[in-house]
Amino acid sequence: MNEKEQMNIVIVGHVDHGKSTVIGRLLSDTGSLPNGKLEFVKENCRRNAKPFEYAFLLDALKDEQAQGITIDTCRCFFKTGKRDYIIIDAPGHIEFLKNMITGAARAEAALLVIDANEGVKENSKRHGYLVSMLGIKQVVVLINKMDLAGYGEETFNRIKKEYSEFLSRINVKSINFIPISAREGDNMIALSEKMPWYKGVTVLSQLDLFVNEKSEELKAFRFPVQDTYKFTNEGDERRIVAGTIVAGSISEGDEVVFLPSLKKSRIKTIEAFNTPKKKTVCTGEAVGFTLETQIYTRPGEIMIKAAEKEQPKISNRFKANVFWVGRAPMIKEKTYKLKLATGRAAVKLVGINHSLDASDLSTVNNKKQIDRHDVAECVFETMKPIAFDSISDLKTTGRFVIVDNYEIAGGGIVLESVTQEDSILKEHIRQRENIWEKGLINPPERAVKNSHKSKFIVFTGMKDTGKKNIAKLLEKELFEKNFNVYYLGMANIELGLDSDIKVEGKDIEERIRRLGELARILTDTGLIFITTIDEADDYDIETLKLLNEPNDIIVVIVGENSLTRYPADLELGTPDDSKTAINKVVSLLKEKEVIVEYYL
Ligand code: GTP
Ligand code: MG
Repeated sequence: MNEKEQMNIVIVGHVDHGKSTVIGRLLSDTGSLPNGKLEFVKENCRRNAKPFEYAFLLDALKDEQAQGITIDTCRCFFKTGKRDYIIIDAPGHIEFLKNMITGAARAEAALLVIDANEGVKENSKRHGYLVSMLGIKQVVVLINKMDLAGYGEETFNRIKKEYSEFLSRINVKSINFIPISAREGDNMIALSEKMPWYKGVTVLSQLDLFVNEKSEELKAFRFPVQDTYKFTNEGDERRIVAGTIVAGSISEGDEVVFLPSLKKSRIKTIEAFNTPKKKTVCTGEAVGFTLETQIYTRPGEIMIKAAEKEQPKISNRFKANVFWVGRAPMIKEKTYKLKLATGRAAVKLVGINHSLDASDLSTVNNKKQIDRHDVAECVFETMKPIAFDSISDLKTTGRFVIVDNYEIAGGGIVLESVTQEDSILKEHIRQRENIWEKGLINPPERAVKNSHKSKFIVFTGMKDTGKKNIAKLLEKELFEKNFNVYYLGMANIELGLDSDIKVEGKDIEERIRRLGELARILTDTGLIFITTIDEADDYDIETLKLLNEPNDIIVVIVGENSLTRYPADLELGTPDDSKTAINKVVSLLKEKEVIVEYYL
């Protein structure tokens, strides 16, 4: 653990009000720049006949700091006697949202810069709103460019009054207002003689006065799974579940649960990277775990401790506050992508409770869409249940962004889980079945003609358990007995039906949805339709079952059963030979009266 305290601070404000200059000043006046950097940048400006800007220092540092880590906005580091600081420069709403929500930064305090000459602008207000919405309680307002206002107290007081009023309307209590000139260095690290009327602290002293919350560490354990890696050594079957701990701590031997799949296991070893082996790890650490049992976990699941009471909610409906920055408004008809911690899910807007314009706080009820720069309290529904916390319980797993066409279009906080009366999926199926155009032949007639009923048979289980082989042999067996049967390999639709699904090559939800619709059609033809899916989870199977309605599904597990709730129709275990496995499936088909006459 770091002995010295660390603190993340975000700096926001209207364009050109002086954010970068404030950071440049702090870096240079605290002696945090690499040797010769200041002179180098100044010399560069002189040679190009350009006036020197403190903001240039940030550009000069960017290349050095970016090495080895991917950062999309400038993160600057400097120290005081008290602690190490990371200042995050967020040039606009989108960067700000991205940083705050995707975990690039967890700011505990915010500096909000306002130009004394220009006064309070729309973004001064929007950023103030965002800061409050994201739960940053320590806010200090820097009234900058006081040199342009003759260092006058009246200007400072006027802006302070106007902005305080705004902040109080959104329930933010700013800790302090500081009059500064970042460019001239007034009240930055030493009190300025030019503003003798100001009796408060400097910017630097103010930073040291901020209180480190540190509370995430004491909260319940949360570990959003980033990825799983498999050891590649021969015979080594272990998997490492990797990610960053966003709250709490965990030790070897602790029992864990993955959400939303509800799979359980126990921590076997902690695999820290490039550090000595540890038995316990805590908030902020990027680690990997091996588990005592082999379970498959998807990236995006949240690992928690089984013993802890404060568990995330699992739901596909939640109430949230969302700040919309997309050019196109957010509408109900469209499907967006939600990113929460490491999880991704298709999401729809199902209701808007009320919305307001963050720059003037005018509230509108009965709005049909969320326009750019609106803040709306609304209800979202994901296609598949996800795990999350309410923002009041935990920040990192209570925040999300919404992506529209590959771009971040909104960010928000989860207020609470909503119990749903009816899901979008069920509603979709109801509508689909309502307008389903039937031919002149009904299902029983087809069954009589075919000498069997239609059925959707899904084989699932871990990879490489021989599912495909069994599924194909089953198709052949049934075919030879004159049944109408078809085996579909998922690869066959990858470049066909699914060719437009390109999101990281693995948009599982959408693939499952299309497979379900396809199954509905194929089973309607009277077919016994067989397919295999690697490592399907309960929600995948439930979705397929619903989409295939009113027709029936049979779920056969090969290898270890990784479903936690869905009762599989048949568990084959690890079959000794395919003949026995097929006989078991055929017996089940007889039992379920899919086929009646059958001679083995
Ligand atoms: P964006 O990143 O574009 O949003 O701007 P910013 O907020 O980072 O502003 P930046 O620090 O780049 O400053 C914008 C301009 O204001 C620059 O030309 C600065 O030199 C100037 N400026 C910043 N601070 C002061 C100040 O205290 N006094 C005066 N007179 N000019 C300043
Ligand atoms: Mg800037």
